[in-house]
Amino acid sequence: MKNTTKQRLLTHNLISLFGMVLAIFGFVVGATLIAIDMHHHFENPYTGIFTYMVVPGFLCGGLALILGGAILEKRSRLRNGTDTTHLPIINLNDRKHFTAFLTITVVTLLFIAISVVGGYRAYHFTESVEFCGKTCHSVMKPEYTAYQNSPHANAGCVTCHIGPGADFFVKSKINGLYQVYSVLFNKYNRPIPTPVHNLRPAKETCYTCHWPQKFFGAVELNHTYFRADEENSPWSIQMLLKVGGGDPDNGRAQGIHWHMAGTTKIEYIAADERRQELPWVRMTTADGKQTIFQTTDKKKQLTPEQIATATIRTMDCIDCHNRPTHQYHSPERALNDALAGGQLNPAMPSIKANGIKALTGDYKTEGEALSAIQATLKEAYPEGGAEVENAIVAVQKIYSRNLFPEMNVSWKEYPDNIGHMITPGCFRCHNGDHKSEQGATITRDCNSCHTIIAQGPGRNVTSINTGGLDFKHPEDIDEEWKTTRCDECHSGVPVM
Ligand code: HEC
Ligand code: HEC
Ligand code: HEC
Ligand code: HEC
Ligand code: HEC
Ligand code: HEC
Repeated sequence: MKNTTKQRLLTHNLISLFGMVLAIFGFVVGATLIAIDMHHHFENPYTGIFTYMVVPGFLCGGLALILGGAILEKRSRLRNGTDTTHLPIINLNDRKHFTAFLTITVVTLLFIAISVVGGYRAYHFTESVEFCGKTCHSVMKPEYTAYQNSPHANAGCVTCHIGPGADFFVKSKINGLYQVYSVLFNKYNRPIPTPVHNLRPAKETCYTCHWPQKFFGAVELNHTYFRADEENSPWSIQMLLKVGGGDPDNGRAQGIHWHMAGTTKIEYIAADERRQELPWVRMTTADGKQTIFQTTDKKKQLTPEQIATATIRTMDCIDCHNRPTHQYHSPERALNDALAGGQLNPAMPSIKANGIKALTGDYKTEGEALSAIQATLKEAYPEGGAEVENAIVAVQKIYSRNLFPEMNVSWKEYPDNIGHMITPGCFRCHNGDHKSEQGATITRDCNSCHTIIAQGPGRNVTSINTGGLDFKHPEDIDEEWKTTRCDECHSGVPVM
């Protein structure tokens, strides 16, 4: 208690009074807003920021001013001799003291109660998808949009980016402070660099919902490609992807998830930041036997000194599923899906080629792109009509979901490692050019990861061969596809 025996309360000074006004304001507004939030959950992240970050600031700032004012007052009284005790003397029989004591006790208890509830709500708020995805909406728009259209749209951002436990929570909040600063002062990169090096290990995030022992069997993939010719000629491929997995306790783990089943460890050294070049791979089997595969490309081979000092990473989910939720589709893929799914009509002459042209212009903003898409398609189909209007909407939607010129985000900036068609993906190791000293090669056999069961021109290829077919490249390029990596020709737009 900071009041003296015979004088006015120490808090009777301008600074403390101002602090009281601030604190009461913060207290009343904060309590009201928290009560509202508990009944009608705030959708708008700014309301959340105001309630859980700005208002408590007023309250704490106010309390600090009350205390600060009292200390200054005490000092000045000591200096001019009106007060001689260094600490306040409390006499609860004095009515004034008693009232002050009671007030302070009640206010402190209320403050603690509000802080506990508010702190708990604030914790949940900063973990919410609204906070992560919408607050800096222009910055996070690409990630948030992609996320909403992904199978993880109901898994919070924090389940993958923070995960359970206090250490990563604290790390993420400290990191978060820097991020708020970089947004306020416009210091962030466009696009935002992937957190691939400091992402929390998959065992502590993905494993809370998925585990490799529970995968088995195959997944059917059905792709229809439309050519950029006048007829939008279709070509279809149907295949069974050998997802595999399996519990090593109940027989051999196999298929694609074999890498993760726990019996064999795969490690690699990356030659670049994004882990797109993996010149050195080491496999350790359950019996401890090691096999080292190195690229046969002399220019990319690592020297023994480089290997000795390099960081060796153990492969996990993120090395294949690096884009489980932030997927930006290429114009080619998005248009093929829209044509196959009926959002675009394949009977419109050259709609594939015109869609590619409309989507790949050099635009500075989304608004500019959407108007340009409209203009391009109106010019291509001057007869107009409902079908053209429909096509405009469909192509604009593809743009808004996958391309973000303000943040320089597109399929090109963030390579997806899951396949091998437009990014190196599996072929970072499986291109047939990683060999061991004993002469073994990491497989490039087209039927080791998937079995092609049907392929050919048309939208539905009916003759199915479950035994597996030899791949037929839709365009005659000789045997080129057997040795050259697919992504050296295919880039997400038609190969010229
Ligand atoms: C299923 C797990 C998962 C969820 C849920 C998730 N992310 Fe991510 N996020 C990732 C992974 C994995 C990466 C790293 C991508 C890479 O290395 O290519 C990433 C990368 C990012 C990046 C860096 C830029 C980029 O695209 O690589 C941002 C920003 C981001 N996430 C924000 C969010 C926000 C905001 C949410 C919630 C709206 C969210 N994430 C939800 C897994 C997830
Ligand atoms: C909060 C739980 C949760 C977490 C954490 C989580 N996932 Fe998922 N994941 C799901 C759900 C739910 C689905 C949808 C299941 C379905 O469609 O059958 C899913 C689907 C998937 C799919 C299938 C996608 C598809 O197109 O069908 C992949 C791949 C995947 N998750 C990978 C990951 C990876 C990698 C991580 C870690 C970075 C991760 N998940 C973290 C819940 C989670
Ligand atoms: C060697 C690369 C690789 C690794 C490592 C890997 N996956 Fe996969 N996973 C795939 C491929 C390829 C598919 C097929 C579906 C696809 O293309 O998205 C798949 C499919 C899935 C699916 C969907 C399964 C289904 O039946 O639909 C889930 C969920 C999944 N993975 C989660 C994980 C998790 C969790 C881990 C880490 C324990 C992991 N994966 C490790 C390559 C990998
Ligand atoms: C870091 C290197 C690396 C990457 C990346 C990689 N693999 Fe592998 N994979 C290996 C090695 C090493 C083997 C064992 C040698 C072999 O069987 O060719 C292997 C074996 C396999 C096998 C055979 C498993 C069995 O039953 O014996 C399949 C299937 C497979 N990988 C699928 C994939 C798929 C699909 C991807 C991409 C999503 C992928 N791998 C990415 C290194 C890698
Ligand atoms: C190491 C495993 C692996 C090998 C070897 C492999 N593939 Fe694939 N392939 C995949 C995976 C995984 C996908 C699925 C990606 C996805 O989920 O869309 C895929 C997808 C494809 C697709 C569909 C691509 C798309 O995006 O439309 C074609 C076509 C294809 N593979 C052909 C081949 C051919 C031809 C070969 C042999 C030269 C081959 N693959 C070798 C793993 C492999
Ligand atoms: C030497 C360059 C080259 C290589 C390497 C190559 N392709 Fe192609 N591919 C083409 C050309 C050219 C076309 C026809 C033009 C087009 O449609 O983009 C084509 C078309 C396709 C199509 C039909 C898609 C469409 O949109 O028309 C598929 C599927 C395909 N290629 C798969 C593959 C796969 C899988 C690999 C790797 C195993 C591969 N290609 C390697 C040049 C190549």
